[in-house]
Amino acid sequence: GQSSTTQHPLVPASQLLDCQSDLGRGVFIQKVSIAVRISLMFRQAFARSSPAFVAGVSAVGGAIGGVAWSSHNEPTTNCDSPPKSVFDMLYDISRSVSRIESLLAGPYTPSQSSTSLPGEDKRSPGIDVVLGAQWGDEGKGKLVDILSQDYDVCARVAGGSNAGHTIVVEGKKYKFHLLPSGVLNEKATCVIGNGVVIHVPAFLNELDTLSASGVDYTGRVFISDRAHMVFDFHQEVDGRQEAKLGRHKIGTTKKGIGPAYASKISRNGLRVGDLLDWEYFERRFRSLAESHMRHYPDLKIDIDAQLAFYKSVAPRVKDMTIDTIEYTNKQFSDGKRILVEGANATMLDIDFGTYPFVTSSNPSVGSVLTGLGVSPMKLRGIYGTVKAYCTRVGEGPFPTELDLSEGSPGLHFSQVG
Ligand code: IMP
Repeated sequence: GQSSTTQHPLVPASQLLDCQSDLGRGVFIQKVSIAVRISLMFRQAFARSSPAFVAGVSAVGGAIGGVAWSSHNEPTTNCDSPPKSVFDMLYDISRSVSRIESLLAGPYTPSQSSTSLPGEDKRSPGIDVVLGAQWGDEGKGKLVDILSQDYDVCARVAGGSNAGHTIVVEGKKYKFHLLPSGVLNEKATCVIGNGVVIHVPAFLNELDTLSASGVDYTGRVFISDRAHMVFDFHQEVDGRQEAKLGRHKIGTTKKGIGPAYASKISRNGLRVGDLLDWEYFERRFRSLAESHMRHYPDLKIDIDAQLAFYKSVAPRVKDMTIDTIEYTNKQFSDGKRILVEGANATMLDIDFGTYPFVTSSNPSVGSVLTGLGVSPMKLRGIYGTVKAYCTRVGEGPFPTELDLSEGSPGLHFSQVG
């Protein structure tokens, strides 16, 4: 093992071992691991390229590791002042590799083309994200609708049916709340990630409306077995909490988002995957419903009717339920292009927004990782949508006001967007 001493607290343990002339097994392992680590870094950086290219680049990485190894092996280490360690060299190399990666397959930047949209960047697979950078209603739906035609997978990662946008295609209106609007691209699959909270009746209604409009979604919509469920009683509780707050209310959409995430965080919520084991689902549902009735004595839940509904729709939901984490990562490794359709917006973020006048999830970029189960290394373009002026739905601080008098820029903005 490695141990540190008080004499050189910042010198890596491997160097201390050298200084102490203990060039035994530990040092050898350390050196081999340096070469392997550099090689792995190269492999990771170029993982999206062809296998032959990856092998070649990994070999170069290994060779650099070898050089690092031999230079580190020289017996001239000065033990009095901390020398540039192999780890510092590794750090420099890793920074260079990151730079090469962003040049080869990194995020789109406007300088690549002043006219093309991110969806037109077809160089490599990756995960692109569209987020709302204000209080929502910035027009994400419009952008996502344009982009989604170029993607293989469209995903939602946070929030629930509190989000919504309308898309008009050839005069036909489509309203989306839970489904990614990429479902209109018949070549794309849709993923509702583990970070989303799903009100199953609303979700099935959305699918039925889509079918009635002639969109065939069969085999293309997947929901995460880990996504939590919003029940009708969550929505009723949402309304009651708002009523209780009176003039301090948040102005929620009353879709049960806060109460459903509260159940999730309290660790007594139910997940979509729980429908696969009916006995378990029934037991947990009863317990959750009863605890809500205890907290809200005027709340009446017809538990048997609710259970009958969930039992009847369970087979349909099960057909769409998968391990979306495995699916999404596999799609990524197969070179597919993935678009995350953000819901809500940064200023409504539970951590970064105007708390407490916020929603109960993270509509900023963090939820792409936790709500879809992908590594940050897989993200490519992250696009924040803004509009020329701000609006917010619901309550909360909003210290600006538009002058809407005749001929004012405010009036112009409010009319043309
Ligand atoms: P909730 O998400 O329904 O709990 O609402 C919390 C806050 O977020 C309220 O101020 C809502 O008006 C706001 N909000 C939620 N979803 C949206 C949205 O899609 N657009 C704009 N505001 C939203």
